[in-house]
Amino acid sequence: MNLEKAQQILREHGQEQLLQYYGELDEGQKQSLLSQIESINFSVFHSLDKGGERKIGNLTPVPAVTAADVEHRREEYEELGIAALKAGKVAAVLLAGGQGTRLGSDDPKGMFNIGITRELSIFEQQFANIAEVTGRSGAYFHIFIMTSDVNNEKTVAFFKRKNYFGYPQEKVHFFVQEMAPACDLNGKILLEDKGRIAMSPNGNGGWYSSLIKNGDGEILSREGIEWLNVYSVDNVLQRICDPVFIGATLKSGCNCSAKVVKKVSPDEKVGVLCMEDGKPAIVEYYEMPAEIASIRRPDGELKFAYGVTLNYLFKVELLNKTIDKKLPVHLSLKKVPFIKDGIKVKPEQPNGYKFEYLVLDMIKLMENCLAVEVVREREFAPVKNRTGVDSVDTARALLVKNGVKL
Ligand code: UTP
Repeated sequence: MNLEKAQQILREHGQEQLLQYYGELDEGQKQSLLSQIESINFSVFHSLDKGGERKIGNLTPVPAVTAADVEHRREEYEELGIAALKAGKVAAVLLAGGQGTRLGSDDPKGMFNIGITRELSIFEQQFANIAEVTGRSGAYFHIFIMTSDVNNEKTVAFFKRKNYFGYPQEKVHFFVQEMAPACDLNGKILLEDKGRIAMSPNGNGGWYSSLIKNGDGEILSREGIEWLNVYSVDNVLQRICDPVFIGATLKSGCNCSAKVVKKVSPDEKVGVLCMEDGKPAIVEYYEMPAEIASIRRPDGELKFAYGVTLNYLFKVELLNKTIDKKLPVHLSLKKVPFIKDGIKVKPEQPNGYKFEYLVLDMIKLMENCLAVEVVREREFAPVKNRTGVDSVDTARALLVKNGVKL
């Protein structure tokens, strides 16, 4: 793209500020900035007009296998799950492309040392959890790891340095997700340097299309992988390719399932899995009307009781059918480093929006979804913040409770 064309596009979208330092750049930087402008998907900015809000439809509870049901049928589910793992029908997808701004470390979140007297990265702890499963099934499953431009190099190097935590290297596949521009609170795209647009990972919802774009669909069909277990990097008690979860899902005949925990209170800050207008959906805590969140059943339990833990099983067949469907864009308020009057600024407070697609919106496309309740203290220890709620401190306490030596 040449300068005139870039100027025209930016004028149409009210983003002329992106060329304010153009005259100061050398030839290479100029070309680079023009191609960055060319690749901007301006359609995501339409969500700014809508204020990012969505209307909630008619909510009803989702079909669920409770923790008590799981205990009752553990053996049967486990047997089914182990058979699927042995047959190579299930693979895992680790979502590790996020920036972890709340944790505030420059390294990928998975490299964070959760140990106290010894070094124990989050990645290593999750691979220790995986080893329990592979030990029982006797079969290594494929693991696809999504990174982003901000952390790919460091993540791949860390895995190499740690010898893939003892996992067969040929079963570990990295792929890089896409990026989206970040803007200020008035919708103006930010520059992080004179010739570089502030870009951030475009959320965890684009994982399947990024995986396919990377060519990994070939591995899925070659290996006969029918299910993908998608999980987040930041839960140190995450059970990955859990045979019981797989078995319960297979038995249900559903296309998709989610590991859920019972909410501790109506206003707990977790997304809730429910049915919305007859389709499975996750309603984020800030979208859920308080009067609905607090409805109780005759037995005293919350009617909408199940919070998601970012551990899902998706049927590959359905993912292929829905890959071209557009997901909604979410705005998330974050700290975005930028350049002002020629000086780089690292903001202390959130100063802009990032645009994200979210994995939770994929649930709606799956026609049905089974909630499988897990025991919170055993499986849910999110590491979002340094201290306080869902922090390094709370995760460490839960690891110790589960017998992990820190
Ligand atoms: P979060 O929503 O907690 O985002 O990610 P984050 O970027 O890690 O952290 P904050 O909000 O900046 O503090 C939940 C999961 O989704 C992954 C993360 O790596 C984590 O496993 N994720 C998030 C991606 O893979 N890509 C993204 O663009 C965003």
